[in-house]
Amino acid sequence: MSQLRPKRVGIMTGGGDCPGLNAVIRAVAKPAIRAGIEVIGIEDGYLGLIEDRMRPIAFSDVSNILTVGGTILGASNKADPSSYAVPDGRGGWKKTDVRRQVVEHARKAGIEVIFVIGGDGTMTGAASLIELGLDFIGVPKTIDNDLWGTDVTFGHDTAVNTAAEALDKVHTTASSHHRVMAVELMGRYAGWIALHAGLASGADVILIPEIPFTIGKIAENCLDRGRFGKKFTIIAAGEGSVPKGGERFIDHIDDSSPDPIRLGGVAKYVCDELERTTGLDCRSMVLGHIQRGGTPTPHDRILATRFGHFAFELFLRGRRNELVVMRDGELASIPITEVADKVRTVPLDYSALRAARAVGTSFGD
Ligand code: F6P
Repeated sequence: MSQLRPKRVGIMTGGGDCPGLNAVIRAVAKPAIRAGIEVIGIEDGYLGLIEDRMRPIAFSDVSNILTVGGTILGASNKADPSSYAVPDGRGGWKKTDVRRQVVEHARKAGIEVIFVIGGDGTMTGAASLIELGLDFIGVPKTIDNDLWGTDVTFGHDTAVNTAAEALDKVHTTASSHHRVMAVELMGRYAGWIALHAGLASGADVILIPEIPFTIGKIAENCLDRGRFGKKFTIIAAGEGSVPKGGERFIDHIDDSSPDPIRLGGVAKYVCDELERTTGLDCRSMVLGHIQRGGTPTPHDRILATRFGHFAFELFLRGRRNELVVMRDGELASIPITEVADKVRTVPLDYSALRAARAVGTSFGD
């Protein structure tokens, strides 16, 4: 590690976009520029490093972006440098290792450390580049809240707000029309969004990937509610939820992506089966990317700013290849290589799960 403070750093946002990314960029870039360090913005996550697309970031570029969703740098969840998909000439894709190209482009740009803001896929990519000598400082992001090693990621709170608002809104139609209404929520293989949004809006049924469900148990809950005069049921369904002994619902496969599975269909399945077995009037909807969009909540702006600032402090202290994490309310850091290829799912003894069950919420189990 160089004893002199690096004069030029890179910054990139990898994976899917997420509310709060710009707040991190600002929290890193403003103090860096003020300290006389050049900041190079890498465009579209690892794609910018692969395709040599980078640009200097000026102070004015990072002004007035705190409250703006998305990322001024662009993002991509299709570019893992160790397994980069290129057309195979036969209408399909083949995976190639382009890590040496990435290192070459970073060196040519004079970038000594890269602030990498991303989730598990992005950190796995960083771990594979650390092996080739690139230095990173990681900042965790994902609306899914599933990054291993940190108790929380920014973007999650905004997604939960959006999801809870959607669940609140369907309440009125569900109650007026005496319907079952299922809202499918993002989160991939972890149920944090469905659980937190469901708890926040008092969903009657919450389905999460960690707890396999049966239609019979959900139907029981809907019919029981009817017996007690409640003629409607709200279901918050995490997209990765699975029927007991069954398979995940896959919407499509995107072979150009390192993580090719795109989930979808569980809410429709649940509604179709409930309607068939109970005769209740059911409607399903998929909330989709609305959960990733819009203005970050103040909570996420604060968290993102704290994460970004802590990352910059790590940098100043000469720490490299560490990921900022939040543990028991305190900021800390762990090696980036520790989180690669891991997912943080909802623990079955989580107090929020117990609280939901205590107020009568069913998990379909
Ligand atoms: O990881 C974030 C996330 O929004 C997941 O919740 C969702 O399953 C996935 O990304 C969707 O990916 P894409 O934007 O490629 O459709």
